[in-house]
Amino acid sequence: TGIDRTRNFCIIAHIDHGKSTLADRLLDLTDAVPERERMEQILDSMDIERERGITIKAQAVRLVYRREENGDGGEAEYMLNLIDTPGHVDFSYEVSRAIAACEGALLVVDASQGIQAQTLANLYLAMEQDLEIIPVLNKIDLPVADVEAVTEELVELLGVDESEILKISAKTGQGVPEVLDAVVDRVPAPESAVEQTRGLVFDSHYDAYRGVISLVRLFDGELAKGDRVQAMGSEEEFEVLEVGCYSPKPTALPKLGVGEVGYIIAGLKDIEALRVGDTVTKVEDPAESVLPGYAKVLPTVYSGIYPTVGDDFERLRDALQKLQLNDASLFFEPENSRMGFGFRCGFLGLLHMEIIQERLEREFDLDLIASSPSVKYEVVLQGGETVEVTNPSDLPEVFEEIREPMVRATVICPKEYVGQVMGLCHEKRGVSVGMEYISTKRVQLTYDLPLGEIITDFFDALKSRTRGYASYDYDPKGYVASDLVKVEILVSGDPVDALSFIVHRDKAYYRGRAMVEKLKELIPRQQFEVPVQASIGKRIIARETVRAYRKDVIAKCYGGDITRKKKLLEQQKAGKKRMKQVGNVEIPQEAFLAAIRI
Ligand code: GTP
Repeated sequence: TGIDRTRNFCIIAHIDHGKSTLADRLLDLTDAVPERERMEQILDSMDIERERGITIKAQAVRLVYRREENGDGGEAEYMLNLIDTPGHVDFSYEVSRAIAACEGALLVVDASQGIQAQTLANLYLAMEQDLEIIPVLNKIDLPVADVEAVTEELVELLGVDESEILKISAKTGQGVPEVLDAVVDRVPAPESAVEQTRGLVFDSHYDAYRGVISLVRLFDGELAKGDRVQAMGSEEEFEVLEVGCYSPKPTALPKLGVGEVGYIIAGLKDIEALRVGDTVTKVEDPAESVLPGYAKVLPTVYSGIYPTVGDDFERLRDALQKLQLNDASLFFEPENSRMGFGFRCGFLGLLHMEIIQERLEREFDLDLIASSPSVKYEVVLQGGETVEVTNPSDLPEVFEEIREPMVRATVICPKEYVGQVMGLCHEKRGVSVGMEYISTKRVQLTYDLPLGEIITDFFDALKSRTRGYASYDYDPKGYVASDLVKVEILVSGDPVDALSFIVHRDKAYYRGRAMVEKLKELIPRQQFEVPVQASIGKRIIARETVRAYRKDVIAKCYGGDITRKKKLLEQQKAGKKRMKQVGNVEIPQEAFLAAIRI
């Protein structure tokens, strides 16, 4: 297979429209990498490591597709590289990475749901990169599928002819073979611009046994085992220990050819050496210019992450560094507060934040607490200097002006829910920008909203008020000055910086009150009374008290048997997980997230 028989494509879709199911069907229909292309696995003794490698989620699968051509019975063989993209709004950044490695995209739309907000967001990303778009209407087997209406939406959106839209069921397999033909016939073959080797690193992963494993798209030249290679951004040089592809198991290959997608292993231990977005070239005949990398993504949500055990600080740093290799969008810097030593981290959204915290705990066996999440504010000080504030407790007492980040949000919903959506956006301090019918039944609303209002319960509220029929997506839209204040939370009379938050003055009283009530429920009873207060400046705006508990748990088992006693103590210990000692009070993780769930 040469470059003209190579096709690189991705599948883009709104969540649950059937991307993974379609990918599985495509895998079923094609064989793995042909025998003659495979290579002996380097070291048989490294079996465990290989097995480990398999557990890595393959994000670029190579399919071999053979079909009869020219009607003379002759077979042609195509190499199809399918690059996986995530669907959630927090990860549109990852989608753009995958897109930059492809020439075409299957745009999958659920025939029972129609075009949704992420359908549009991902489509726009693909169009910016000039990808060939193949519209695929999925789930036509569903009785509730409205093939006609959704076809109309796609024709309207893409300006295509109805005959260009593939109609399939990824579940039953109906129409799926035609998808492979469409990829071959409509997605352009890769083109190479220069002779020297240039590969775009579009994903990197740190493996404890094998070091850095990177996914690359070779735009020019080739890469083989034994080549000396340079990462043009980091200027790091290394030898290629293995190249290969996922089919879907990791399979070593003699080389990666021009236009191909695969992995390279360089045995690098320094995870900074081969960053996502960098270009690799050969040391002996280096390329002159780098490939366009990726726009640096900026975090939108910040939170302090602290180990519950103080001496885990260095382990946490190490874990964050390792995660950052997979995820260049993760930002962190050391921070010291009343919570002890930890890191201020930046995320692409709340889901991203939850995933990172979960991965840190599960993959690195850490026990962590995340502080109340915040967006990044711009604060003009009295001297005229502007500073950025991502930790509410850093907001100075006096300042000239505070500006908050805005987003332009797109909401798509059935027309009967327009009133509900407008009401919600209004409550969230949104300003309407426009409204448009995307079909006779469904409407697209555009609003400018403060990001701080969106990261809270916006999505949940939207879903519940529209019975799940609305979807939304957003893009950053600069900063605007606003009347914001800091609400501090005092526990036992001491301000707990990780609980304080910045909010619009009009909502400060209500939010402070609600927060204190929530904390009263969430903070477990201690052996003494714990007052919980909210204040703005010096003024206390709300107060509740967590009563002391009356008896020790064990007191109940006076005279009881020892196993029951043990069990109770264990229960008590388990209940302690994810608690942080602040002053003399233990505060559970949920309390730190309360501010965004009110
Ligand atoms: P994310 O990975 O979460 O973005 O979702 P996805 O787009 O990959 O969707 P996935 O393939 O997980 O499919 C979502 C649901 O739709 C699953 O329950 C599938 O079984 C179902 N599904 C996918 N394709 C079809 C189809 O053609 N017909 C029917 N009836 N169900 C389908």
